[in-house]
Amino acid sequence: MRSQLRRLQTPFKPLSKRLRYLLLSLLVCLSVIGSYWVWAQQPVRLSMMLQGQEIPNWQMIVDDFEAQNPGIKVDLIEGPNATNLREDLYTTSFLLGDSPYDLIYMDIVWAPKFAAAGWLLDLSDRISEAELSEFMAGDVDGGRYEDGLYRMPFRSDGGMLYYRQDLLDAAGFDPPETTADLLQISKALQSQDKAQWGYLWQGKQYEGAAAMFVEMLEGFGGYWVNPETKVVGLDSPEAIEALKFLQTTVADKISPPGTTAIDEEVARLQFQSGNAVFMRNWPYAWKLGNTEPSSKIQGKFGIKPMVHAAGLNSGACQGGWGLGISKTTRHPDAAWRAVEYFSSTEAQRKFMLASGFVPSRQALFTDPVLVAEYEYLPDLKKVIESSVLRPPIAQYAQASDILQRYLSAALTGRQTPTEALQAAAQETRQLLKT
Ligand code: GLC
Repeated sequence: MRSQLRRLQTPFKPLSKRLRYLLLSLLVCLSVIGSYWVWAQQPVRLSMMLQGQEIPNWQMIVDDFEAQNPGIKVDLIEGPNATNLREDLYTTSFLLGDSPYDLIYMDIVWAPKFAAAGWLLDLSDRISEAELSEFMAGDVDGGRYEDGLYRMPFRSDGGMLYYRQDLLDAAGFDPPETTADLLQISKALQSQDKAQWGYLWQGKQYEGAAAMFVEMLEGFGGYWVNPETKVVGLDSPEAIEALKFLQTTVADKISPPGTTAIDEEVARLQFQSGNAVFMRNWPYAWKLGNTEPSSKIQGKFGIKPMVHAAGLNSGACQGGWGLGISKTTRHPDAAWRAVEYFSSTEAQRKFMLASGFVPSRQALFTDPVLVAEYEYLPDLKKVIESSVLRPPIAQYAQASDILQRYLSAALTGRQTPTEALQAAAQETRQLLKT
C-alpha cells in the first residue's frame, strides 16, 4: 500500500519543487519590479545650502521650477549668514567625500578653489559661449577655472556708496566724489547733529571686509594680488594710504568705534535707523531701506559709485552668486535642469523683483519691469562692468583670511597700517609660493 502510494506521489514531487521554485522566483521578480516602480515614482531630490535671508525668494522660484518639472524637488537648507562660514561648511562636506548638496550656491570667490579641488562638475559642455555672452562678463569669468566652467551666474553684485540725499540737499552738499569730500561732509553734518555717524562700512573680520578693502585699494590706485603674475601689492604706499583712510574714519569718530563688528546687515540696519550720512553696501540694501516698515529713510537716500582718492577712480568690488553642481551628485542631469531654470530670464526677473538683488543677465539691467522698480539698474550695469574681482586664485580663501586678520589688527589698533599690511603682504607671498 505504502509503495503504491509512493509510486503515485513520486512523479509529482520534482514537478512541485520546480513549480515552487518558479513561483518563488516570480514573486521575487515582481517585488523587485514593484519596488523599482515605487522608487522610480519618487521625485529626484536635489539639495542646496544658502543663507536664511534668501530662502523665501528662492522658494518662490523653486516652486515654479517644481511645477514645470514634476519629477524633481529642490530642498533648500539654511546655512550661516556669513559667506565664508557657508564656504567652510561646503568645504567640510566635500572633504568628507559624499557631499549632501547637489547644487552648490557659490559666492564668486569660491569657484577657483572648488574647481581646483575637483569638487565640481565642468559645465562647459552643457552651454555655448553664445549663451554665456548674455550674462555679465565678470560673473561668467568668475565661474571659469583653467579651461572649464564651474559656476553659472545667478545674481551679480557690486559695492556702492549710499548717501542721505535729504541731509545733503538741506546742507547744500553734492554727493561726495573723493574720500576727502566724504570726511568733510560727514564732519559738517555730525557737528550740526544731523546724524550720529558719518560713514558705516564693513570692518568685521570676515569676507565682507576683504570685499570692502578691494574697493579702497582700487580707489587709492593699489591692488591686492595680480592673478597672472601672482605679485602681491598689499604693502604698496597706495594700499597703506587706503587703510589709513579707513583708520581715520574710526579715529575721527566719523565711523563708530565698534566698526570692527559691522557687517552688511549691521550697517544696513543702522543706516535705516537714520543715524548715518553714508554707508558702503551692496545694492540689496536699496529695496529694504525703501520698503521695510521700520526704515526711517524711505525715499531719502541715493546710491552712487564708491568714493576714491583725488584724481583716481571709483572701485566697486565684483560680488555675486552662481550655481555649480557637485561632482558626487547622483542626479547631474536634473541638477543641470535646475541650474538652467534658475539662471533663466524668467526666474531671475521674478527673484530680483521680489528681493532687490542684482540680475546677472545683461538684458535685465534695462528690463522695463525691473527698471520701473529699480531706476538705478542701467547705471549699476556700468559700475559692475568696470568692477574689480577679488584675486581669482585657487588659494583665495587663505589669502582673504590673511588680509582679514591684518585689517583687523590695524583697525583694532594692535598694529599700524604699515606694519599690518607689510605682514599681510609677506604672508600672502609665502602662501602663493607654496
Ligand atoms: C555679497 C557678495 C559676495 C561677497 C559677500 C561678502 O554677498 O555678493 O560676493 O563675498 O557679500 O560679505
